[in-house]
Amino acid sequence: MPGRPSALADFSTVILAAGKGTRLRSNLAKVLHRTGGRTLVEHVVRACLPLHTREIAVIVGHQAEEVAASVAPLGAHSILQQPQNGTGHALRVARNKLDRRSKYVLVMPGDAPLIRTETLERLARVHLASGAAATVLTAMLVDPAGYGRIVRKPDNSVARIVEEKAATPEERAIQEINSSLYAFTLDVLWPSLDALRPENVHKELYLTDAIALLNERGHRVLAEVAADAHEVLGCNTRAELAEVDRIFRDRKRRELMDAGVTIYLPETVVIDPGVRIGPDTVIEPCVHLLGSTRIGSNCSIRTGSVLKDMVLDDGAAVLEHCVLAESRIRAGAAVGPFSRLRPGADIGPGAKVGNFVEVKKSRLGEGAKAQHLAYIGDASVGKSSNIGAGTITCNYDGVQKNRTTIGNQVFIGSNTALVAPVRVGDRAYVAAGSTITDDVPADALGIARGKQANKPGWAAARRKALTASSPSKRATKKGKRRTRKR
Ligand code: UD1
Ligand code: CA
Repeated sequence: MPGRPSALADFSTVILAAGKGTRLRSNLAKVLHRTGGRTLVEHVVRACLPLHTREIAVIVGHQAEEVAASVAPLGAHSILQQPQNGTGHALRVARNKLDRRSKYVLVMPGDAPLIRTETLERLARVHLASGAAATVLTAMLVDPAGYGRIVRKPDNSVARIVEEKAATPEERAIQEINSSLYAFTLDVLWPSLDALRPENVHKELYLTDAIALLNERGHRVLAEVAADAHEVLGCNTRAELAEVDRIFRDRKRRELMDAGVTIYLPETVVIDPGVRIGPDTVIEPCVHLLGSTRIGSNCSIRTGSVLKDMVLDDGAAVLEHCVLAESRIRAGAAVGPFSRLRPGADIGPGAKVGNFVEVKKSRLGEGAKAQHLAYIGDASVGKSSNIGAGTITCNYDGVQKNRTTIGNQVFIGSNTALVAPVRVGDRAYVAAGSTITDDVPADALGIARGKQANKPGWAAARRKALTASSPSKRATKKGKRRTRKR
């Protein structure tokens, strides 16, 4: 859709996001809570972007600066509503701040993040086509509790919206609810907003009351019923936040499965909206794929692994229980089980990183291996080199980080400490247990450890001497005898 000439250029978009969200019982403003991998308000702004309306204005109040800062990078601007005297007041505040060229406004709540671009577009187009003063997006809910109810006229247009707290038992039985998503024609909306009165339990100006006022002034209000009622669900409580998160995650997994990705026990797998995965990749249960992670085709991600902002080339494998971030795994390489990649790790084609190996800001060349218990930080490891179990690159001297450079086909013996800055040349060997402080030239053996001495018979002699002189040994024997007598 981006780039397409927009038929919605006469629309401004207003997102209501100034409220506190009392029912969440939180210090964080409601719209900054996260669900489905993003904040509520970010989801809503992103749904609006492809419409290319004249502007996206976010009404901010509680934690105004934080909310404004979170939407600014997406191209939305903010309008401060202080104090927050209700949804109708929010729109009144916006009146002089909106682009004067707009003839219509799309209004939506910042706390209903499941809304889709297509639904917004349909609402706007239906509104343009009908010439109504307002078009309300409604939904049929089995349990409409907590929402405003839609009261229709005999001609099926909308007479008014009644909030639950003010509704009669008959009105409460109405299952068609107000989504808080509206298209308004501005020249008739503004005078109706001026007529709003705070005559309700919260002493606020309700935007919902504008519907009856428009009718009183002889205007027509229509309703558009959402095809998928889930799209209008609000996140007013922690339980609703979790339910909406579940729907988002389900949507994303279905989208990927439809595109050829295998996901086992999908309800246990968490995938953020920005993640991309190629076909024939297999995702096992209890995997988290977060942020901007991009995974090629024919990859496998085994159970319990968490990947954030990762890049995996085709055919890469992540074995069980890995924690990987901001790194790249190239074609045919395998990482895990129990591996940790920290930012800046680059695991070359066909390379292997095994259990309890941590790699940070380091490149492993093609076919290189670090299979067990190692720390590789600020290093480069050449092609086909082998890093033995327990190898540590000592990259930090207490002040700064230093680099370790290991050439091609190098063999680093187990339990080696490489004190950086240090270089090990191509095809060199480092003997197990060495503490390497000086460069090792190509084809050389670097060995840096105490020489071994064997003392024949020493252990047997010592054991004998100890048995003969041990008072505790005799004491134990007496103790045993006493126990037997009793
Ligand atoms: C509102 C509607 C209700 C509808 C429901 C759908 C009103 C009076 N009621 O109820 O009919 O069924 O949404 O989700 O409109 N906000 C502001 N400034 C304010 C007050 C609220 O920007 O002064 C924002 C909130 O941050 C929120 C949105 O408006 O994002 C809706 O407010 P909320 O308090 O959640 O309204 P509901 O009680 O859910
Ligand atoms: Ca709400």
